[in-house]
Amino acid sequence: SDGYDLVVVANRLPVDVSLDDHGEPTWSRSPGGLVTALAPVMASADGAWVGWGGSPDLTLEPFEVDGTQLVPVELSAQDVARFYEGFANDTLWPLYHDVIAQPAFHRVWWEAYQRVNRRFAEAAAGQAARGATVWVHDYQLQLVPKMLRELRPDLRIGYFHHIPFPPLEIFAQLPWRKQVVEGLLGADLVGFQRGGDAANFVRVVRRLTDLTTRGQVVTLTSHGKVERHVRAAAFPISIDSGAFDELARTPEVQARAREIRRELGDPTTLLLGVDRLDYTKGIRHRIKAYGELLEDQRLSPSTTTLVQVASPSRENVGAYAQLRDDVELLVGRINGDHGQVGHAPVQYLHQSFPMEEMAALYLAADVMLVTALRDGMNLVAKEYVAARSDDRGALVLSEFTGAADELTGAVLVNPHDIEGMKDAITYAVHMDGRESRKRMRRLRRRVLGHDVAAWSREFLGVLTSVPTRENHV
Ligand code: G6P
Repeated sequence: SDGYDLVVVANRLPVDVSLDDHGEPTWSRSPGGLVTALAPVMASADGAWVGWGGSPDLTLEPFEVDGTQLVPVELSAQDVARFYEGFANDTLWPLYHDVIAQPAFHRVWWEAYQRVNRRFAEAAAGQAARGATVWVHDYQLQLVPKMLRELRPDLRIGYFHHIPFPPLEIFAQLPWRKQVVEGLLGADLVGFQRGGDAANFVRVVRRLTDLTTRGQVVTLTSHGKVERHVRAAAFPISIDSGAFDELARTPEVQARAREIRRELGDPTTLLLGVDRLDYTKGIRHRIKAYGELLEDQRLSPSTTTLVQVASPSRENVGAYAQLRDDVELLVGRINGDHGQVGHAPVQYLHQSFPMEEMAALYLAADVMLVTALRDGMNLVAKEYVAARSDDRGALVLSEFTGAADELTGAVLVNPHDIEGMKDAITYAVHMDGRESRKRMRRLRRRVLGHDVAAWSREFLGVLTSVPTRENHV
């Protein structure tokens, strides 16, 4: 073919590829939000997806899955260490999440970031048809828009930033701040989760470049002539709410939800936390608040259970290994102090589960705790709401998530305020049925009324209305 009309570029492919016992590549669907988000768009377009298969040193030819061309980008073990674990997840991730952890700045990591971004840009340039739309995703690939535009000025380029974009005062710490901003400005449209993220970005552009901005539009000039415009805007991401709602209504999932409560000894109150094991998620703060509620006898350790699912993530990065130790120490202390033979007040699961089991857990829980210290959106909050077609259950939600802008039916908390969080959890536990139904209906109207298909339609709609250089001249 002479190329694809829609090319998605993301750090990960929608499938994880590995070698089986015979050295043959096999793949399994990687269950991230982006995959379900883009599946319907990709299915209806002539689409290719450029990304990493998830294992180091795997050279793979492009292959097709469900009508989408998957184009693997190879990362060596050193690229994984310097680009993925290093610059992406030990420099940018903590920097963009309010420096909750200390970002590390290493020049060899920056070198690797540029090198790997160029590899993604070249792969995308090789797949896109003339005048095609390329949609680049997330903080791992911020240099790709500019690199790609240099290779292929005919393309329409969109970029979506899935995590927070920090205030200027924090962003300015990055030694390579100017190059990163210029990388993003290679796009025609730069999308963010919240209006506040877009505003932070525009302020950074104003302070770190000499470009002119008007509202959320940046104008690029060359030799005094307007060359093109870059638009920044918010597009809050969502989930496939309809599919999740349907899954949670199946008799199998409903039966599993009842079984989970039985297996936990029929607690009066079941609290639930579901996160990647990441220091941005406020897992320690949440467990500390819960431990104190038991200690103060505001919750009874014999009739209350907290199920904390913490799925393994980025385990080779120091701050993540440290967090695991901290959480496991805390859980052990609480269970040691407040447990009984046959009952532990915290059920800690360092595992990931299939969607069906997650839906059953959401249905089984009386109160869902989402207490992130900073989070771009938080899709767990939306999944919980989509699962509750019974209009029951309560959501305790951190103000510092993108989701808090939309999910105003939640009990909002500041996770740094342990006393405030204890009060909010107590309030949610004792909330009467009328109030919780009213809140849940409101939450469901929002989550079911704005799903991920609407999100991608809106982003691509704005992107394709941008005049490209080609039809400009
Ligand atoms: C966040 C990021 C994604 C990333 C995901 C999982 O949601 O925004 O870009 O893919 O975490 O992290 P991982 O490092 O395993 O890809």
